[in-house]
Amino acid sequence: MIDVLGVGIATLDIVNEVEHTPAEDEEVRALAQRRVRGGNVTNTLVVLARLGHRCAWAGTWAEEPDARVILDDLTAHGVDITPARGLVQGKVPTSYVTLSRTTGTRTIVHYRDLPEYPAAVFLTLCHGDYRWIHFEGRAVDELTRMVDHLVQHHPHLPRSLEVEKPRPGIEALFSRFPLILFSRHYAHERGFPTPEAFLKAQRPLAPRAVLCCTWGGEGAWLSLPDGGILHGPPHPPQRLVDTLGAGDTFNAGIIHARLCGLEWPEALELANRLAGYKCGLRGFEGVERALD
Ligand code: FRU
Repeated sequence: MIDVLGVGIATLDIVNEVEHTPAEDEEVRALAQRRVRGGNVTNTLVVLARLGHRCAWAGTWAEEPDARVILDDLTAHGVDITPARGLVQGKVPTSYVTLSRTTGTRTIVHYRDLPEYPAAVFLTLCHGDYRWIHFEGRAVDELTRMVDHLVQHHPHLPRSLEVEKPRPGIEALFSRFPLILFSRHYAHERGFPTPEAFLKAQRPLAPRAVLCCTWGGEGAWLSLPDGGILHGPPHPPQRLVDTLGAGDTFNAGIIHARLCGLEWPEALELANRLAGYKCGLRGFEGVERALD
């Protein structure tokens, strides 16, 4: 049995480590380069797999040589890729990432021309045997059909939605999820300077949901349906090495904690600890040691 099904993207990340992020029109030399699998949902699944969960990925990939980086990494982590679909056209979504050794920040140029995962496929494979389904908030039309299917046929199956970027119409889906994981980027784009104000404003859109928002080096905030707001302080590493995928790691921490039966305050603390530990690592290898 699969514990967690993740619906969303996998990318090829070409990560250049530099002394500092170059200014426009500047030329700098990369100190190191790696080509690795990335993408929000698959990052989350890989962290969950490292924590001992059986995971499956529902997403698309292009049948071209760079897909190997993605498929090999997922397979090495024991992530079941049978729900995913290989497409004959296009290129695997590719992120050109500049990672600053001075600050640990990541700057991303993302290219994609690949169709999103079709709801029609999801509907054929979603049998409700999962313990959790996590969605990346992307193609809203497809997502609407997928979540409507769950609401109708598997209403009690735990599910979560990651909202990282504004997408037209995504707010209409909020009330159909019991847990929504927002990013600071999304809150900023919507014009909110603080996590508390942002979460308060989202409450009418999802009255019964638990709402969570990460806030970079300041930790994360969580809003409970009864109106209570919790702040989870950050757990910064001794040295900031790599923040790429820190939010995805936080999301994995929340899902892991809830699958283990933890209450919300403990789940928030665990997720912050996991994400902070990840920022002291290059990639995700060894991230599970955060919980030793
Ligand atoms: C990190 C990440 C990268 C990927 C990019 C896609 O959160 O998933 O691995 O290239 O974001 O937006």
